[in-house]
Amino acid sequence: MHGGTWYLDGSFKLHAPAKLNLFLHVTGQRRDGYHTLESLFAFTQVGDTVTIAPSNKPGLTITGPFARELNAVTCEDNLVCKAAQAVALKAGRDVDVHITLEKNLPIASGIGGGSADAAAVILGLNSFWQLNWDMLTMEVIALTLGADVPACLYKSPLYVTGVGEVIQVVELPKSYGVVLVNPSVGVSTPAVFSAYKNTSSAGFDTELNAYIPRDDTAFIDFLLTKTQNSLQEAAQSICPAVSSILDVLKKQPKTLFSQMSGSGATCFSLFDTQADAEKVADVLKVQYPDWWVAADTLQAR
Ligand code: C5P
Repeated sequence: MHGGTWYLDGSFKLHAPAKLNLFLHVTGQRRDGYHTLESLFAFTQVGDTVTIAPSNKPGLTITGPFARELNAVTCEDNLVCKAAQAVALKAGRDVDVHITLEKNLPIASGIGGGSADAAAVILGLNSFWQLNWDMLTMEVIALTLGADVPACLYKSPLYVTGVGEVIQVVELPKSYGVVLVNPSVGVSTPAVFSAYKNTSSAGFDTELNAYIPRDDTAFIDFLLTKTQNSLQEAAQSICPAVSSILDVLKKQPKTLFSQMSGSGATCFSLFDTQADAEKVADVLKVQYPDWWVAADTLQAR
């Protein structure tokens, strides 16, 4: 169901695609401080990769363009190691694997990089150790690692409520092309949520109940007129580049819809096709060499 490729040396590789919040409405706050949300999650095709290999010397190797930032974090503090330890604990066994994380997505960028990596480790070890766990078992472990981790187990569009743990599988009208842009500035999720408390956008009171129009035109109209990212104002107060990126994205040819994802700072635009997205990405890469720009496809199901 969740893919993955076995190699002759006994290793197993999975994709950990980027997660986008097509909208994110904060609907309240629990007594423990966590915020309740209603959000439409969708996933790209490409992202980080996680490779699990048998080893009597467990460990983590990080490669890829964003490896340097993460290598500063000790293994125990890395969400990938935490995920492996949580799975091993529940399975009652030692971590007898070496994990290689190819970090292609920017760190602390609102597109679920760390959460997607942790989810890939849970899915990967479930296959690698032949645990045969169901989704619920994996979701319970995932939630101990972060609010977005359960959703990242699915890698397909979801309507998500609660603090991230109430998950409903949905479909997009089609597979949209997408351009992702990050200003190359990491933004702390807790910092954005605490800034949110002080902003006037609090109290967005919709109850969409997973209402997602099935018609393409109606869907884009719905996104444009009925949705927002409640955290945008708070993220902009911490990272002003968010507003510049959104201004630039909205002006690009053939753009259907632009939004900030998660707690920022990555913003994205939807297009009819990946080819349209790639044309825009190629131009932005030249015009804004300091920004991280990527073109991809959002999976419809
Ligand atoms: O769960 P995760 O580690 O991603 O959350 C990081 C922080 O973001 C939490 O400690 C909390 O301050 C905030 N948060 C929140 N409500 C959510 C998700 C995260 O307040 N639904």
